[in-house]
Amino acid sequence: MKIKSAEFVMSNSDVAKCPKNNIPEYAFIGRSNVGKSSLINMLTSRKSLAKTSGRPGKTQLINHFLINEEWYLVDLPGYGYAKVSKSAKKTFQKFITQYFALREQLVTGFVLVDIRHKPQPVDLEFMQWLGENGIPFSIIFTKADKLKPKAIENHVEDYKNILLETWEEMPNYFITSSSKDIGKEEVLEYIDSLNAN
Ligand code: GTP
Ligand code: MG
Repeated sequence: MKIKSAEFVMSNSDVAKCPKNNIPEYAFIGRSNVGKSSLINMLTSRKSLAKTSGRPGKTQLINHFLINEEWYLVDLPGYGYAKVSKSAKKTFQKFITQYFALREQLVTGFVLVDIRHKPQPVDLEFMQWLGENGIPFSIIFTKADKLKPKAIENHVEDYKNILLETWEEMPNYFITSSSKDIGKEEVLEYIDSLNAN
């Protein structure tokens, strides 16, 4: 899919104030620093559409980006980041869960996990919560440039083994690197196929 236009629309901490039009949207979620904002920049081929940082906790609001004037990409704050204050963390968790529970325009969520790490309880719990609430999601493995192909394969296998203990099948997944432009077409084609439905 060709990205002809990508523009920032608004930032919000209140789901009720997010765009009212009924166009499809796709949201990126995962632990802080996993690469959600970077992935949005890679997918749109825009260097700094979404703000990124080496320090976790950069994205603090729900950010809507309008793509090709037809659908939204949504950048969210990370979960599970210990260094923000307790009250800020609570607010994040609350509006993240509210976003997923209430946002009817959401076609699918993408749960980002760093390919270098073993499956983490917080990610597995979040996927479990999405599943229990009937919210469709795919997994995006990030930072694939940091591992050799064999290690990537092993880490994906670890994920499959753990998920298949509780899930009937492995969710759709993608292997990506925002710094090396890996997985871009696959994710965009997938979104395109969902938009067509
Ligand atoms: P929060 O907004 O804090 O939740 O973080 P985020 O998930 O949006 O992460 P962000 O995109 O800001 O990236 C965090 C750091 O990881 C930055 O230093 C990025 O340059 C780096 N990063 C993101 N994606 C990749 C990748 O594919 N490869 C490598 N090597 N680094 C990456
Ligand atoms: Mg971010």
